[in-house]
Amino acid sequence: MSEQGFSAQEREAVYRAIAQRRDMRHFAGGRVEPELLRRLLEAAHQAPSVGLMQPWRFIRISDRQLRGQIQQLVEEERVRTAQALGERSDEFMKLKVEGINDCAEVLVAALMDGRERYVFGRRTLPEMDLASLSCAIQNLWLAARSEGLGMGWVSLFEPQALADLLGLPAGAKPLAVLCLGPVTEFYPAPMLALEGWAQPRPLSELLYENYWGVSQ
Ligand SMILES: Cc1cc2nc3c(=O)[nH]c(=O)nc-3n(C[C@H](O)[C@H](O)[C@H](O)COP(=O)(O)O)c2cc1C
Repeated sequence: MSEQGFSAQEREAVYRAIAQRRDMRHFAGGRVEPELLRRLLEAAHQAPSVGLMQPWRFIRISDRQLRGQIQQLVEEERVRTAQALGERSDEFMKLKVEGINDCAEVLVAALMDGRERYVFGRRTLPEMDLASLSCAIQNLWLAARSEGLGMGWVSLFEPQALADLLGLPAGAKPLAVLCLGPVTEFYPAPMLALEGWAQPRPLSELLYENYWGVSQ
């Protein structure tokens, strides 16, 4: 191991946070202390970003009525998603896909407006702004897991409807409704796997050598 590496215990903690992070939809209410929430958001804010554009904006939803309206938008999209799924519609409707009403905190993560000004790393791949925001969300997810808090990423909503509800400027785009807070227990595996919706594939199937589809 390099001299720059962490101690064995520290490394174990990093890998443990990664392995035991789960997308959570069941929450135990409670609250997240302001200092802890700040720490988590600082972790998110330390994420890498293309050209250091830091495209993330977080909106903390403290208004209970607004939270209800967000939940309503998600519910509408859940029904539309079920319709689009065709034969798996009933199976989908049985899944729990969000914990907006039960979690301690709701955060909306959005891409900022004016992103077209940032060309570095985005001339051919404009979606690198989205990738950067995703890095911030993953930081938050892992930090929350290490603090014993669950987080769920909800993306079932019509972005323009949520943008209008929260007063986002033209060009900004919400990408995640994040449910955060205490949980009774973390799922031992992805909930979609436990529910039989999908099964994760092993790394060996997704790892190629030199050319697409060529296994090691
Ligand atoms: C970009 C993104 C969007 C997601 N949107 C939703 C969602 O709307 N509802 C939901 O229940 N889970 C959502 N998830 C969670 C995934 O279903 C989950 O990450 C996956 O099943 C693997 O489970 P795990 O995160 O516990 O490992 C989302 C995850 C990502 C990365």
